[in-house]
Amino acid sequence: MLGVPRVHHRATDSTNERAKELALAGAPHGTLVTADEQSAGRGRQGRAWTAPPGSALLMSLVLRELDPLLPLAAAVAVCEALPEDAHARIKWPNDVWLERRKLAGILVEGRVQEGWAVLGIGLNVSTDAFPDELAEIATSLRLSGFDLEREPLLAELLLTLERRLAAPEDELLAAWAERDALRGERVRWDGGQGRAAGIDRGGSLIVETEEGRTTPAAGEVHLLR
Ligand code: BTN
Repeated sequence: MLGVPRVHHRATDSTNERAKELALAGAPHGTLVTADEQSAGRGRQGRAWTAPPGSALLMSLVLRELDPLLPLAAAVAVCEALPEDAHARIKWPNDVWLERRKLAGILVEGRVQEGWAVLGIGLNVSTDAFPDELAEIATSLRLSGFDLEREPLLAELLLTLERRLAAPEDELLAAWAERDALRGERVRWDGGQGRAAGIDRGGSLIVETEEGRTTPAAGEVHLLR
């Protein structure tokens, strides 16, 4: 069962860091760390993740049943935990978007060879405003017109995660494809540009370029708006 045991911090540096410590100390599959506030929240590609105190769902799960498609499954589960009329979509590999703005990010860390991973999720719930540099690219549920509380949302998310992690790979890939925000869009990455054409069975992005189909080695691509 995901979410048991649970440790909640009013403030910590990073829930992923706390969950890693617990994993190394032998915490069971499903152990959950949450926080109201992080002083050193980590994002993908070495970036920071920040959110005003109490405004975001900040959570990390210790997982001991590993799957290479975990980051994709987590993104689908986040979308499925939201109201259907939010029409949440996924920007490869696992940013959750509402109206082409980032609502939630996912960071998977861990040691596959030791049989554990930490799944970290940050989801903007009640943020009213973002700093200038994020104003055009980020959103929260509240800013998008959805007034939800963090705890009921967390409970729903644990359920959708449980379902997604147990579902067959084909179903996951189909659910991911239905929410693919990049399909048909022009994208660029460090090393090229082209038109996004879905993902392969390993979860790599497929891009059609003038030279043919490719799967960019870069961990992320940028939408050419
Ligand atoms: C990203 O989109 O760059 C990933 C952001 C992941 C942020 C979450 S917040 C909870 C957990 N703790 C962290 O330090 N990071 C993740």
